[in-house]
Amino acid sequence: MAEKSYYIITHGCQMNVHDSETIAGILESMGFVPSPEERTADLIIINTCSVRETAENKVFTKIGELKKLKRENPDLIIGVGGCIPQQEKVAKRLLERFPHLDFIFGTHNLPELPKILERVFEKHERVLEVWQSEGQIVEGIPVKREPGVRAWVTIMYGCNNFCTYCIVPYVRGRERSRKKEDILQEIRQLVAEGYREVTLLGQNVNSYGKDLKGKPMFAELLADIDKIDGLWRVRFTTSHPRDLTDDVIEVMASSRKICEHLHLPVQAGSNKILKAMHRGYTREYYLNLVEKIRAKIPGVSFTTDIIVGFPGETEEDFEQTLDLVRKVRYDSAFTFVYNKRTGTPAAEMIDQVPEEVKSRRIQELIELQNGISLELNKNEEGNIHEILVEGKSKTDETKLAGRTRTNKLVVFKGSEDLAGKLVKVKITEGKLFHLEGVLV
Ligand code: SAH
Ligand code: SF4
Ligand code: F3S
Repeated sequence: MAEKSYYIITHGCQMNVHDSETIAGILESMGFVPSPEERTADLIIINTCSVRETAENKVFTKIGELKKLKRENPDLIIGVGGCIPQQEKVAKRLLERFPHLDFIFGTHNLPELPKILERVFEKHERVLEVWQSEGQIVEGIPVKREPGVRAWVTIMYGCNNFCTYCIVPYVRGRERSRKKEDILQEIRQLVAEGYREVTLLGQNVNSYGKDLKGKPMFAELLADIDKIDGLWRVRFTTSHPRDLTDDVIEVMASSRKICEHLHLPVQAGSNKILKAMHRGYTREYYLNLVEKIRAKIPGVSFTTDIIVGFPGETEEDFEQTLDLVRKVRYDSAFTFVYNKRTGTPAAEMIDQVPEEVKSRRIQELIELQNGISLELNKNEEGNIHEILVEGKSKTDETKLAGRTRTNKLVVFKGSEDLAGKLVKVKITEGKLFHLEGVLV
């Protein structure tokens, strides 16, 4: 294929961001080169998210907009991948509604991308490839990572939990763990390339290995990663509270590399709602877990995901969520208004909460959480943190940015050659979403 350029638009979670790195790797191994902007690309791929309607709508708008580009440049090839087309009906609808789309592929079809592109570019076919089953994990697909010090490594695909509101298990398939040796090898390679921090990815990392050995092996995996020389920091996401076992807490507590931060989505604070969500734990269990972790890992920070307005959520249930937030005092939280997803059990529940109630509740929750976040960040003033410098700050080019081990963003003045290094920074001001500091 003659040299053609590509541009990838990514929506959704870290899983999708990493899939886009794989798509880029595949494209470059086929001879494509990156295009600095959408307008000049020969190939545009949108990697989509379907977790909420707002996420889906964004994609439909974007696809609509690309029609204009295609009119200006009829040779432009446009493809859509990711979680939206993984719902087969939606994939077919996309093809019908948007005649300017050239190809559509599901989350399970990434390894097939070269073949799909061959059909599109050389045979001029319109291609729809959405496999309903996940197939084997394919190792050794090239990945083009963002340069820098931090890299993302998938340890498992899919999810078996079927929380009643969530579409992810339907679009990502069942849990499949990568072999431990493949993961370790990938991380050793990353370290050899100069990466110093890895974030292990999975919808439920705590059940890593269940499908390989019949029991979770996450603690064992962490312990082995901890031994990799030259690696400085290890993070992981997401942890399901039900599956976070003591042995994982022990490894976190004893390891120098595993950072003192847990993203521990609670989703709701009322036992009735947690049950209806099929989360598999109670608020008492969750609060107890947080206490246990705090006792073992001093200074650990917690972040979470919360949904308001799940079907049947009363004022009292919502109060229980606010109460839990007050008790845990999260460093930050992603808050969502419940959104019906076709095909999930919650979408069929009769007692849906009116939109105006949901928006009032989320406002209240955000206000509460913002107050706590700001207070905790103010408490950091005067503290000294070890920061892994990522490079120039995205919001203030004259400053550097990096994260504390507890995953707080810190912005400070310093020379650009500190990028990739560990430095000590004294916090001078705690803001709502970040900390300001000075090098010490
Ligand atoms: N596997 C992760 C994250 C999954 S999606 C986990 O279990 O935590 C990210 C977040 O989106 C979820 O944690 C949940 O808070 C939110 N979410 C998922 N489905 C949703 C829906 N139908 N409506 C609103 N928020 C939703
Ligand atoms: Fe969705 Fe629940 Fe699986 Fe997370 S654990 S991806 S919320 S089904
Ligand atoms: Fe969205 Fe798919 Fe991630 S639905 S949240 S991109 S797994």
